[in-house]
Amino acid sequence: MKILFVLGNPRKSGYTQSVAGHVLEGMRDVGAEVDVLDLASVDISACVGCYSCWLATPGQCVHRDDMGGILERLYACDLLFLATPVYYYAMSSLLKTFLERTLPLTSPGITMTPLGVTRNHTRDPERWHGKALAYLAVSALEGGRNLNGVQETFRLTANGLAMELRGELLRPESYLLEFSLAKPRTIGTITAALRSAGRELGAGQAVTAETARDVASSLSPGLEHFVKYSAYYWENAVALGSHATDLASVQSRTARDVRILMSEMARCADRTATARLNLDILFSFTDIGWQCTLHVDHGTCECREGAPAAAPALTITTTTTTWAALFTGGLDVRQAVLQREIVLAGDRSLFLRFHRLFPPPTD
Ligand SMILES: Cc1cc2nc3c(=O)[nH]c(=O)nc-3n(C[C@H](O)[C@H](O)[C@H](O)COP(=O)(O)O)c2cc1C
Repeated sequence: MKILFVLGNPRKSGYTQSVAGHVLEGMRDVGAEVDVLDLASVDISACVGCYSCWLATPGQCVHRDDMGGILERLYACDLLFLATPVYYYAMSSLLKTFLERTLPLTSPGITMTPLGVTRNHTRDPERWHGKALAYLAVSALEGGRNLNGVQETFRLTANGLAMELRGELLRPESYLLEFSLAKPRTIGTITAALRSAGRELGAGQAVTAETARDVASSLSPGLEHFVKYSAYYWENAVALGSHATDLASVQSRTARDVRILMSEMARCADRTATARLNLDILFSFTDIGWQCTLHVDHGTCECREGAPAAAPALTITTTTTTWAALFTGGLDVRQAVLQREIVLAGDRSLFLRFHRLFPPPTD
């Protein structure tokens, strides 16, 4: 299986690069022969629409740049994989420019396709047949309508280039991929699904509906949370000022942000287990010097910044990493208390019931 793996992202430290990286690993797992083309490091001029490649010099563009050699790489592949960030509800201009320059692969003449729309003839059906296309689009906003444009464009592009569409990978909420403290399970599902998609494509199969669904798993349980969680990401970025262009710094600061963890904890409070409680639990995170209160009120729970007005039923003093490990089930709680990694003051019996009161998120 020969794959031309095209990266259409200008930002090399960004999410398209890292998300596409998992797909690439999966393809290599199954021994696919992958030719990686980074569009940010080649010279491809914009199509000028002169139709010389159809009329004056059939199959040849007027531009003398890297695209000539790339057309040969296109002819050589069985699968074309296109990865792009979503820019203004569409693919990046790098990828668009690349696609426009595939015009020499086509020729005059119109064919009606099974999709019920027309396409031009392919120039060399002997060399251009049985090819497939798959794509990955990575966006900051949530899925659904935001991604309709990019999805439709890729579907029509596959049809227009007479290629079978073999995989549609949509990865919305890119920035929330940083919240590994609060969302390790979902992030694990997404990462594994991206690799599976690579394996499926690398083995010459279509991406299954289940894999595509897992790739697109939502990291926020609703619009309200998405808006709040995105705001946390951008607060971290803004706080870094001019250093924020170094994405790694933003990522490490965001990954340690405990606010999402606490907000998820409040969201997942068990209604039945907390039905009879009306109390405050104060958390003091010593590593970041930040306090918050879980306000439990007969089956509902809310996370509020700072200490409560009245004395809390329980005060928990700890670090963000210790607490994240506890919340996601990866900590020996007894040991942590004995070693004073978690210090309790007040009603300790409440703490003993924590796993029932605040089970980790299952979504
Ligand atoms: C010029 C520009 C336009 C963008 N437009 C959109 C958009 O329409 N929808 C969206 O969800 N994200 C949009 N984004 C955010 C990117 O999709 C986001 O940064 C994502 O992580 C992919 O880019 P990356 O690979 O550089 O991280 C835009 C980003 C830029 C720089």
